[in-house]
Amino acid sequence: MKKNIGARLGLYPTPVVLVGTYDGTGKPNLITLAWAGVCCSEPPAVQVSLRKDRYSHAAITERRVFTVNVPSKKYLTEADYAGIVSGRNVNKFESAGLTPLKGEVVDAPLVAEFPVSMECKVTHVLEVGSHDLFVGQIVACWIEEEALRGGGKVDAGKIDPLAYMPGGEYFGLGEFLSAGYTVGRNLIKK
Ligand SMILES: Cc1cc2nc3c(=O)[nH]c(=O)nc-3n(C[C@H](O)[C@H](O)[C@H](O)COP(=O)(O)O)c2cc1C
Repeated sequence: MKKNIGARLGLYPTPVVLVGTYDGTGKPNLITLAWAGVCCSEPPAVQVSLRKDRYSHAAITERRVFTVNVPSKKYLTEADYAGIVSGRNVNKFESAGLTPLKGEVVDAPLVAEFPVSMECKVTHVLEVGSHDLFVGQIVACWIEEEALRGGGKVDAGKIDPLAYMPGGEYFGLGEFLSAGYTVGRNLIKK
């Protein structure tokens, strides 16, 4: 039996990413986001949604670039921290002990310690309601070499990402289940 719990966010789970920007003075900043995801293959693009009052919102609006950094589970504390304090008042990189690296293509900082970082250029902005949705075309994707398995595949265990349950809980990644586009074939009638 399923129960209607109303118009709630039921997309369980969402990723946890830290978006990197430089503010007006050139100080690097990070914001933790759970409202983020892939939105296009060609061109490769991601979407991130921010409330207007976030310090990072102004930074993205100004430079029209940002990075999306995927933390490993071991950076849970740093990821949560960047979602609690504002870059208006602190340098989150310094206080979390994270290293900002200059983007190669865009004017936004990458997190050196995280296994994946994407450099993005804003192509669309959509005012949805409480949040503005920014579409970022990916112009470079940096990945920990150890996580590369060849054939375009990435070792999920080496990335070890966080998942977020809307409502407020973090989880780790579960076990490997199957290759994609395979097991579903069992239901195609011969
Ligand atoms: C797990 C988690 C997910 C979050 N997701 C979002 C989000 O998707 N959009 C948003 O605007 N704020 C989100 N926040 C809140 C911001 O990260 C938080 O307000 C942050 O302090 C803003 O930083 P800034 O002012 O330096 O930009 C989230 C916080 C946490 C802990």
